[in-house]
Amino acid sequence: MLRIVVCVSGGGTNLQAILDAVDCGNITNTEVAAVISNNPNAYALERAKNHDIAGICISPKQFEDRESFNRAFLEKVNSYQPDLVVLAGFLVVIPELMIQEYRNRIINIHPSLIPSFCGTGYYGLKVHEAALARGVKITGATVHFVDEGTDTGPIILQQPVKVEMDDTPEVLQRRVMEQAEWKILPQAIDLIANGKVKVMNGKAVIVDF
Ligand code: GRF
Repeated sequence: MLRIVVCVSGGGTNLQAILDAVDCGNITNTEVAAVISNNPNAYALERAKNHDIAGICISPKQFEDRESFNRAFLEKVNSYQPDLVVLAGFLVVIPELMIQEYRNRIINIHPSLIPSFCGTGYYGLKVHEAALARGVKITGATVHFVDEGTDTGPIILQQPVKVEMDDTPEVLQRRVMEQAEWKILPQAIDLIANGKVKVMNGKAVIVDF
C-alpha cells in the first residue's frame, strides 16, 4: 500500500481528483495519510476534513526563519512516513534536505507542457497568461519528479490540451485542469503505487508489465 502525503496551498481540485480516484478505484493500492498546507484558509483543507483525512497547516510565517520552517516541515512530513509526497498546487519551495531524503519520491503537477512556461515565476494563472501571450496552439500539464531545480525533475506523464481562439487565462486554466491535471496526476500516482515508474539515467520510464 502506497502511503502518500499531499501538499496543497489553494482550492484543492487536484487533491479532490486524487481522493475521488482512490474512492472509485482509478488509483489502486494507495492511501492518503495526510494533507499539509501552508495556507490556513486553503479550501483543500476543507476537502481533506470532508474525507476524514488529517489536514495540517504549517507555514513559513509561523517561524522566525526559513531554516526552522524547513526543519519543522520535513519533520511533519516524516511523521506520516509517506512513500510518496504529492505537490498539488503547493506554493512553498521544498527544502533541499527533503529532496535528498525523498529522491524520486516527490511528484508535482505543473500546468504546462514542460519545458515550456515553467521555472521561477511560472505558477497558477501566470502559466496560462504566458501561454496565451506566446500564442501557442497546444498547452497542457506535466507530472514530474521534484529535484533541486524548479520544474526540472524527470517527467512522468504529460497531457496536451488545445488552446481556443477566445481563451482567457481563467478559461484555459480550467480546461487544462479538467482535461489534463485531474487525469494525469491520479494516473501517475496509480502507476507509482503499482511499481510501474522507474527513473533511469535521469529519465522517468513507464514499465507496463
Ligand atoms: C493548479 O493549476 C496546478 O496546476 C497548479 O496549482 C493549481 C492548483 O490548483 N500547480 P488546486 O489547488 O489543485 O485546485
